[in-house]
Amino acid sequence: MKKSLPDYKEARRRTKEEVKVITDAYIMDNELSKLGIGKTYCTVTYGCQANVRDSETISAIMEDMSFTRVEDMKEADVVIFNTCAIRENAHNKVFGNLGIIKNLKEKKDILTILCGCMAQEESVIKMLTEKYKWVDVILGTHNIHNLPKLLSEAIDKNEQVVEVFSKEGDIVENLPVRRDNKYKAFVNIMYGCDKFCTYCIVPYTRGKQRSRRIEDILKEVNELLANGYKEVTLIGQNVNAYGKDIENYPTMANLLEEVAKTGIERIRFVTSHPWDFTDEMIDVIAKYDNIMPYFHLPVQSGSNRILKLMGRRYTKESYLELFHKIKERIPNASVTTDIIVGFPSETEEEFMETMEVVEECKYDGAFTFIYSPRENTPAASMKDDITLEEKEDRLQRLNALVNKYYRENNEKLLGKIVPVLIEGPSDKNSNLYSGYTDTMKLVNVECDKEDIGTVINVEITEAKTWSLDGKKVK
Ligand code: 5AD
Ligand code: SF4
Repeated sequence: MKKSLPDYKEARRRTKEEVKVITDAYIMDNELSKLGIGKTYCTVTYGCQANVRDSETISAIMEDMSFTRVEDMKEADVVIFNTCAIRENAHNKVFGNLGIIKNLKEKKDILTILCGCMAQEESVIKMLTEKYKWVDVILGTHNIHNLPKLLSEAIDKNEQVVEVFSKEGDIVENLPVRRDNKYKAFVNIMYGCDKFCTYCIVPYTRGKQRSRRIEDILKEVNELLANGYKEVTLIGQNVNAYGKDIENYPTMANLLEEVAKTGIERIRFVTSHPWDFTDEMIDVIAKYDNIMPYFHLPVQSGSNRILKLMGRRYTKESYLELFHKIKERIPNASVTTDIIVGFPSETEEEFMETMEVVEECKYDGAFTFIYSPRENTPAASMKDDITLEEKEDRLQRLNALVNKYYRENNEKLLGKIVPVLIEGPSDKNSNLYSGYTDTMKLVNVECDKEDIGTVINVEITEAKTWSLDGKKVK
C-alpha cells in the first residue's frame, strides 16, 4: 500500500512557509502499546549523528509498543534499518543486510522496516516497491512519529506500507528517546540543510533547514543535566546557520552561550560550515570553559575552482583565515575536517592544493572520501573523467598525510595532563577504561571503576596514531 512517495522536484523546492512546531503528533494508544508483547526488535543504524539520534527515538517508540531490544538482528522479530544515502557504499551495506534478512525469513517470521535517508530516494523506493515487496514498512525521515500506526497497518493488512513525504513540513517535538549512552547525549538543534553543495544528497533527503526552538533545546539540555549527563553534542548538518531560518531569532553564538549557562560540564557541536562561522561564535567558545575546544570544519577541497564547482561559498584563502583565527583565539583547539577527492574534473595540481591545505592545517583528524555521484544532484551530471585508479591513489596519498599529522598531534600530548570523560571499560583492554579528551581524542586510561561517568585528569604516557594511553593523576 503506497501512501506517498518521494519526489525530487518537490524536495528541491524551498518555500517561505512558516515551520510549525507540533507537540502532539505522536500517538500511542492502548492497543498499539501492546503490539510488541513477547516480541523483540533490533535497530541497525548507518551514517551520521542525526541518524544515531533518530535511532534512539525509533528504539524508544518500539519499546513504547512493548517490544524488547536485542543487539543481534538475526534474533529479532522486527528489524529496523535506519539508512544513510551519502555515498554509494552506504547503500551497498544496506542491500547486503537486506539479503541476509531475506534468507532468514525462509526459516522464521521477521518484520522488516526501512527508514532514514535511503527511503527519501526515488530510485531506492522504486526498487523496494518492485523487487523487495517483502520489506514490510518503508518510512521517510519526516515520518518517524507515524511508525506505530504504519507497523500495525502492515501487520493487519499483510502488505508493504510506504509513507515518505517529500516536503519536510514541521518540527515534531515530544517524541520519546532511549539514549545509548548514560553520560553523553546528542541534542538536535536543527533539521535539514539549505546549502545545496552540488555533490550532496542531504538537502533532498532531510529537507529544508528548520531550527528547533531555543526553549525546546534548553529544556532538553536541562533534563539531561538533571539526569546526570556530563556532555551534550548539539547536532545539525550546518549548525552555525542556527536561527537563520527564523526572523529575528537567536544565532548559534547566542544558543551556545545559553547552553553554556546551564552549567552542563561539556558542550560540543557538529557540523560547522566554514561559511557561517562568525566571530561572535569564536568569542563565546573562548569565553566559556564548558564549550569544548574542538572544531569539525569540513574543507572538502583546497582548490578554489573545485570549491566553486562544489558550491561551497568560500575560498581556500577565506577558509585558512578562519582556521588561523580559531587557532589564535583558542590555542589548544583541535580541528578535524572532511575531504572529498576525485570530484569531477579535479586535476592532479588541484588535488595537490588540497594536500597543501592539509600540510598547513596539520589537522587532528580527517574523514576522507572518494567522490560518489548521487542521484539528481548537480555534480552527478558533471563530466567525471578521472579513473577509479587515480581516485584511489589520491585517497591513499591523502590518508598517509592525514595520519602523519594525526600521530604528530597525539605525540605533542605526551607527558601532558588532559581532562577525560571516562565512559566505561576499554574495548581493547579490560583492565583499562576509555573516554575522550576535551579536544576529542580517544584515551585508554588506568583509573578506577568509580571514575566512570566523571571527568578526570589524565597524564598521557603513550601516543599512537588513533589513540592515546594514560593514567589518572590527582
Ligand atoms: N561523495 C563523497 N563524499 C561525500 N560527502 C557528502 N556527499 C558526498 C559524495 N557525494 C562527504 C562530505 C561531507 C561528509 C559528511 O560526507 O565530505 O562533509
Ligand atoms: Fe551537504 Fe553541504 Fe549541507 Fe553539508 S552543508 S549537508 S555537505 S549540502
